[in-house]
Formats: sequence, structure tokens, C-alpha cells
Amino acid sequence: IDNGLARTPQMGWSTWNFFACNINETVIKETADALISTGLASLGYTYVNIDDCWSRSTRNLKGEMIPDPKTFPSGIKALADYVHSKGLKLGVYSDAGIFTCQVRPGSLFQEKNDAELWASWGVDYLKYDNCYNLGLPPQKRYPPMRDALNDTGRTIFYALCEWGIDDPAKWAGKIGNSWRTTDDINDTWISMTTIADINNKWASYAGPGGWNDPDMLEVGNGGMNYHEYKGHFSVWALMKAPLIIGCDVRNITADTLKILSNKEVIAVDQDPLGVQGRRVYASGPDGCQQVWAGPLSRNRFAMVLWNRCSKAATITANWSAIGLEPSISVSMRDLWKHEVVSENTVGSFSARVNAHGCEMYILTPRRATRSSI
Ligand code: DGJ
Repeated sequence: IDNGLARTPQMGWSTWNFFACNINETVIKETADALISTGLASLGYTYVNIDDCWSRSTRNLKGEMIPDPKTFPSGIKALADYVHSKGLKLGVYSDAGIFTCQVRPGSLFQEKNDAELWASWGVDYLKYDNCYNLGLPPQKRYPPMRDALNDTGRTIFYALCEWGIDDPAKWAGKIGNSWRTTDDINDTWISMTTIADINNKWASYAGPGGWNDPDMLEVGNGGMNYHEYKGHFSVWALMKAPLIIGCDVRNITADTLKILSNKEVIAVDQDPLGVQGRRVYASGPDGCQQVWAGPLSRNRFAMVLWNRCSKAATITANWSAIGLEPSISVSMRDLWKHEVVSENTVGSFSARVNAHGCEMYILTPRRATRSSI
């Protein structure tokens, strides 16, 4: 939507993938501190998002949502003030139904009052879930919250989470800043690759103001190896996905930080052209040797060679698959080695790729030289 936000996909952190319901205000504050001290905040990870379970199970007598007094005794406004003092932004979560998935109050039919309350606390982001929805269609339940957020006068990012059920890519561009295209991710190779494939189908609907959301990152949660997480992050960036960290940033390892801090990969996600890259070629057993690519600003292309096979393989990308003239000469910058690996590649490019690993490049067409004119 045209609310000035999401010109590029949102970046930040969320409680859900690592902490689920085991959250409290100390975890949020310590994570905000950790986002700063690790340097992640200055790379663009600025939304600190509290997912399900921040609210008490019942509203108060005025019908207001109340932060759980055991876990958030100082309230959400205090947290918003805290993260704002660090230059970060605060997100909350609710549900377009009568309860959240963890059976806390939902906002269906209470959109206006809830939005006003969050705005009064200084909230910057809402993730809006889909449980206990009374069987009403999402096209009826999600617009009222858009309007309620807009009416608060505060600029609030609106992230739809209806799990891709009614093909939101087709209609949610007028409603929210991002929309989930799939069911929940979990920290496994099969879940991550399945979700990538579903999200890929909706590529043409993404763009500045509204993005396909293949769910939050599992990088660093332990269920995949380094190569697998590197592929997860690279393909999410190529697909212009929201980059919402889902691990415990307070205890982050060097390997995890290395992946999440890759500036060149982040720059692909945040490229101003805002075109979602997609799978352009697959070969090998079950099509497990894959080329994913898409255009970037300034006539460049981003490309991921993604080896989803269980053995190392050489993957070849032909220019014609990427949409480049076969005769064009490009320089290839490797975004994980952080160096130009070839100055003058014509027609195709091949590389050896680890099992379940990837390589990622930016292709820059060389300007025609005098002799070639
Ligand atoms: C379902 C959503 O898809 C998840 O991302 C998470 O928000 C949970 N609900 C919380 O209950």
C-alpha cells in the first residue's frame, strides 16, 4: 500500500521463531541492545517485533488489550520508548479473528480501538495473524485494520499473516505492506526449500510498498547447517523477502552473524528496483541444481546458484535463462567471497557448489568499449 513504508522489504527481528511464547520485556530490551552491539541494527535490521503472547488473556473493563502483567509489567509503551531511544522501531502482533493463535485477545471488530491504543504507545509495526477468524474471508477482515491504522495518524507498517490461504498476492497489495504466502516456516531444510518454492510462484506481484513474505528467518536456530542457512538467506534476499531475524541475537554465533551481516546480500534484498528474483532454471536429479536470478537497478542482475542436491555439483547458468543477451560480457562479483571472480564472462557461467549450498553473484554488463562498437 501507499503509506510511504516498505519501499524495500522490511528488516528486523521477531520473537516467534526462537522464543515462541517464552517472552518478556527483558528479552526484548536485551535483544534491542544486541542488535546495536552486533552491528545488525546499522545494517538495517531496525524493527524489533513482539509476536504472539504479549497480551494478557482478557481485555480490561474498558475493553482494552493489556500487556501481560507477569511478563511485560512496564507495559508496551515503556518498551517502545526504550527501543526508540536506540533508534529502533517496535512491532506488535494481533489477529484478524476473535483470538490470537495462542488464545490471547484478537482484534476482529475492535480494529479502531486497538489501533488507537497501539498508536498511543508508539508502536511502529503490526503483524496481523489469522486464527479464530469465524470463517469470514480475509478480504473482509484485513482492510478494516488497514483503515484503523491509517486513521491513527501514526505511520504503522502493516504485515498481513493469513498464510497464503486466499492467494493474498493477488489482492493484498491494496491492503498491506507485506503478506505471508505460506504456512509457518520451521527450522528444517525441507520446510525452508518448500516455502521458497511456494513464494517463488507469486514473484510478479511483489514490488515497492508490498512484498511477498515467505516467513521469518531460521538462520542461527540450529536445525540447518552453515551451507543451508547461507542458501536460506541468499534466496530470501534474491526473492525480496522481509529479512526478519528469528534467532536469539543475544547469543549469536560468529557463523550466524557472518550470514546475517553480509552487506552485499542485504543490498540485493534492499535494491531500489524492487523486482523479486525467481527460479529461472533447474537441472539434475529432481531439478535439484537450480539457478535463481532477477534484475537489479543500474542494469545489473543478481543470481544464486543453488545446489539442492545431496552431493556437490557444477551448476551452469546460461545468459538466456537470466534474460541477458548471450553475447553480452559481464563482470561477476561473488557476494560471499566479496570479490570479482571474473571480469569478462560471455554466454554462461559455471561454478562448483557444495551439497545444499549456494553461490551468489551480481552480474554487471560491461560497457561497450571503443573496439567493440
Ligand atoms: C501463526 C503465524 O503464522 C506465526 O508466524 C506466529 O505468529 C504464530 N501464529 C503465533 O501464534
